[in-house]
Amino acid sequence: MTILETENLTKKYGNLVAVDDVELSVSAGEIRSIIGPNGAGKSTLFDLITGMQPPTDGRIRFDGTDITGMASHKIAQRGMSRSFQITDVFGGLTALENIQVAAQVDDSRRSSMLRDADGLSEVHGKAMDVLADIGLDDRAHQRASDFAYGDRRKLEIGLAVANDPKLLLLDEPTAGMGSEDTNSTMQMVQRLAADRDFTVLLIEHDLEIVMNVSDRITVLQDGGVIAEGPPEAIQDDETVQEAYLGGVFS
Ligand SMILES: Nc1ncnc2c1ncn2[C@@H]1O[C@H](COP(=O)(O)OP(=O)(O)OP(=O)(O)O)[C@@H](O)[C@H]1O
Ligand SMILES: [Mg+2]
Repeated sequence: MTILETENLTKKYGNLVAVDDVELSVSAGEIRSIIGPNGAGKSTLFDLITGMQPPTDGRIRFDGTDITGMASHKIAQRGMSRSFQITDVFGGLTALENIQVAAQVDDSRRSSMLRDADGLSEVHGKAMDVLADIGLDDRAHQRASDFAYGDRRKLEIGLAVANDPKLLLLDEPTAGMGSEDTNSTMQMVQRLAADRDFTVLLIEHDLEIVMNVSDRITVLQDGGVIAEGPPEAIQDDETVQEAYLGGVFS
């Protein structure tokens, strides 16, 4: 089953074509990486898919529905989640409070459930499950602002999965992390995706990670797709090697 599909997807900023006629087809359950040089259009592609920016042209289908032009919170309600920075907004809340807020965001059914004790304890239970899944349950009552950088980024991923997404978009989730945090974070993402049964779109600069975790890889350059396939095929693709000025895969 195809969970996400784009057709002729294009975003222009004046004369600059940031996303150029992108045709993407992502199967449910896949971990799909989007790679490409700086400025290739990766983050802009995410902005279009999540409804943060309207496309100049083209269509987006998500989980059987045409979501082109839909408001981002409506798309989120349909089960698309993007990791977001908690550092500013939720720093004063505990890890548990953060996850509880995220579990209710944009979900009218759950926020009405919050009015009674059963609803509250269900949200609490779900939030504790998420914290256990991201390995932070022993620090549920610690303030997010007191967490080390790597743990804060894990909590951000926890926020993004708290609302049971069908598709999770991660834009450089390990940026700024050391190799230990990077590895444990990516293992966590793989485990979450399998256990909670969601699809992942991953933007990641570390090609070793990309080769390890991806089912398929889409390579962008100057806004357009220059290659797509399983890791082995991408690794051997001459066009891709040229795009990276050679050497990165060797
Ligand atoms: N809001 C905007 N207004 C004008 N130009 C933009 C805007 N957002 C992005 N761009 C341009 O679109 C192109 C693609 O940018 P984008 O951020 O999507 O690239 P990227 O692949 O995510 O790069 P990086 O690896 O550096 O994060 C760049 O040339 C960028 O300068
Ligand atoms: Mg980017």
